[in-house]
Amino acid sequence: MKNISVIGCGTMGNGIAQTFAQYNYNVILYDISKEALDKAMLVINKNLGRMVIKDVISEEKKNITLKNIITTTDFNMIKKSDLVIEAVSENLDLKKSIFKKLDLECGKDTILASNTSSISITELAESTNRKDKVIGMHFMNPVPIMSLVEIINSKHTSTTTTETIIEISEKLGKIPLTVNDYPGFISNRILMPMINEAIEALEDGVSTVKNIDGIMKLGMGHPMGPLQLADLIGLDVCKSILEVMFKGINKNKYVPNKLLIELVEDGKLGVKSGEGFYDYSNSKKAEIVSKRFC
Ligand SMILES: NC(=O)c1ccc[n+]([C@@H]2O[C@H](COP(=O)([O-])OP(=O)(O)OC[C@H]3O[C@@H](n4cnc5c(N)ncnc54)[C@H](O)[C@@H]3O)[C@@H](O)[C@H]2O)c1
Repeated sequence: MKNISVIGCGTMGNGIAQTFAQYNYNVILYDISKEALDKAMLVINKNLGRMVIKDVISEEKKNITLKNIITTTDFNMIKKSDLVIEAVSENLDLKKSIFKKLDLECGKDTILASNTSSISITELAESTNRKDKVIGMHFMNPVPIMSLVEIINSKHTSTTTTETIIEISEKLGKIPLTVNDYPGFISNRILMPMINEAIEALEDGVSTVKNIDGIMKLGMGHPMGPLQLADLIGLDVCKSILEVMFKGINKNKYVPNKLLIELVEDGKLGVKSGEGFYDYSNSKKAEIVSKRFC
C-alpha cells in the first residue's frame, strides 16, 4: 500500500493526510471546496512548522511531507488509490453517496475506510459491491498526536481487510484496537454522554465553563475538560454523533442537549468557527470563555 486518498480535508481529513504523508505515503487530499483545501494545507504547514521548532522533525522532513500531499477537487485523481479514507461531514446520506461513487470509480482491490464517529459501517458497506473491503478507521483528534485508531469491523468486513488496516495503522506508529459495529462504537458511546452531561450541567447552572472543565481535569486527570473537548471536536460533529446514537440505540441519554443544538444553530461550532464554549477569536487556546457564558 503506497497510494492513499483522503476525502474531506476538514479537522480530521487534514490530520489524516499529514500523518500518512509523514510516513512517506503518497497522499491525494480531495475536497469539494478549493478554499477548504487551501486552508487545510495552511494548517498542515503550520503543524509541521511547530514540529520543526520543537525539533521533532527536520526542515527537510517537513518539505518532503508537504511534497507527499497533492490536493484536488477532481474525483478522478482518487481512482488509483490502494486505500481511500472518507472524512466528510457526519451525514449518512452524504457518506453513502460517496461510498457508492468510490465503489464505481476505484480499482476492485481498493479498500474503502470511513473515519465516521458513529455511523454504521455495515450500512456504508451495503451501498457498495465490495462489502468485504469496507471498514471503519476512526482516527482521534488531533490525528498526528493521538495514538489510537479505533478499527470498526462491519458485519461483512473480511479478515484480510482488517489485518491490512491493522498493519497500516501500526506503520503510522498508531495503536489499532478493534470493535464491532454499534452506533458510536466504543469511543463516542462513552465520550458523548459525558460531553452532553457537561453541557446539561452548564445549562442547569451547576457551575461555570471553566469550573466544569477544571473539575474534570484536576479531579479525574483528563487532559482537557469536556466543554473544551467538545469545542475541539466541533459542536456540530458532537450533535450529529449524539443524533446517530439516539436513532440507533434509542435511549434518551443520547438526545443532544438543547444548548448544544442552539449553539450549532447560531453557527458557534467551537475551534473551527472561532467560538463555542470558549472564544478563539484571538488565539487557538481555550483561555477566554465565550462572553455568552460569563
Ligand atoms: N472532529 C473530530 O474531532 C472528529 C474525530 C473523529 C472522527 N470525526 C469524524 O470525521 C469526519 C469528518 O469530521 P471533521 O470534524 O473533519 O469535519 P469538518 O466539518 O471539519 O470537515 C468536513 C469536510 O468535508 C468536506 N466535504 C463535505 N462534503 C463533501 C463531499 N461531498 N466531498 C468531499 N468533501 C466534502 C467539507 O468541505 C469539509 O472540508 C466525520 O465523520 C466526523 O464524525 C471527527
